[in-house]
Amino acid sequence: MSTRFNRRKFLAAASGLGLLGYFPAHASARDMLPQRAVPGSGEMLPIVGLGSTKPVRLIREEGSAPLESVMRMLMSYGGKVVDTAPRPAELDARFGQVLQKPEFLDELFVAVKVNATGKAEGLAQIEQTQNLFGRETLDLLQIESLTDFETQWPTLKDYKESGKARYIGVTVAHERLYETLESFMKRESPDFVQLNYSVMEHSAEERLLPLAKDMGIAILVNGPFMNGEFFGHVNGRELPDWAAEFDCESWAQFSLKYILAHPTVTCVLTETTKAHHMEDNLRAALGRFPDIAAKRRMREHIANL
Ligand SMILES: NC(=O)c1ccc[n+]([C@@H]2O[C@H](COP(=O)([O-])OP(=O)(O)OC[C@H]3O[C@@H](n4cnc5c(N)ncnc54)[C@H](OP(=O)(O)O)[C@@H]3O)[C@@H](O)[C@H]2O)c1
Repeated sequence: MSTRFNRRKFLAAASGLGLLGYFPAHASARDMLPQRAVPGSGEMLPIVGLGSTKPVRLIREEGSAPLESVMRMLMSYGGKVVDTAPRPAELDARFGQVLQKPEFLDELFVAVKVNATGKAEGLAQIEQTQNLFGRETLDLLQIESLTDFETQWPTLKDYKESGKARYIGVTVAHERLYETLESFMKRESPDFVQLNYSVMEHSAEERLLPLAKDMGIAILVNGPFMNGEFFGHVNGRELPDWAAEFDCESWAQFSLKYILAHPTVTCVLTETTKAHHMEDNLRAALGRFPDIAAKRRMREHIANL
């Protein structure tokens, strides 16, 4: 149990004592992230999470302070989902030390991946992640980009059956894998699918998101900013006035609100090395979301820039 200041617990306690009126608006209960249910279990997850690739890589040059401040910002809004992928062991060992700090250990929902080819290699990679992250039970174990999925999926099913993984799933980050993903979803009904979806890359809306809804599959979204390409696209442009109609304060929130407006999205993963960017991203979950007509306008606006 963490002993440090924890915004979620503090606000819950303050709310119970009727104290919220004594704190500034910035610290009010409305700042907590909304949550959505994992369809297969009903477990509630906060709807914005962290994609950890860039801040974990940064450990080599700057140590773990940037990653830790981003994770603290996530948690201060009640966030808990952190997506990871296998990195060189020396780097994942340092990431694992952060994940095992008391302030993070029991507070996060950590999604891990396997991307090895071969049965023994996949198993070894998963076991290494469990060891380095200090987690016997994995929250979510995913096959990255469907790599060698015919070989790895039986291992994931074994992990779930034996209680070593609470949920299992697969990821894609490119449209070229959508057809394979669609048939995999129909055949295996994974607990979670992670896919790329944004105001610039929205073809998951056509078949995959409706299929996930029908089948009760939780959706994690990656690439909300196409790994930063989105910011290059909108660079130097003013946010349109009508973005205020759905409480959008920044270009980052423009893409995130587009994503979160889709009710089948369980959680969007945003990757950042900066706590103030994490806060910008978290705040996209607050206030109103665009409706279907506004989403069409958003797509057209971005396509015409
Ligand atoms: N196949 C797979 O499974 C797969 C593939 C790709 C990604 N993913 C997952 O998805 C996560 C995110 O996807 P992504 O890699 O495409 O990254 P992304 O979230 O689309 O974009 C990250 C970039 O956006 C910048 N950024 C973030 N928030 C910002 C803000 N509020 N204002 C301005 N710039 C901002 C970041 O720079 P700063 O550091 O300067 O903020 C970074 O350069 C990954 O970490 C990973 O967990 C999975």
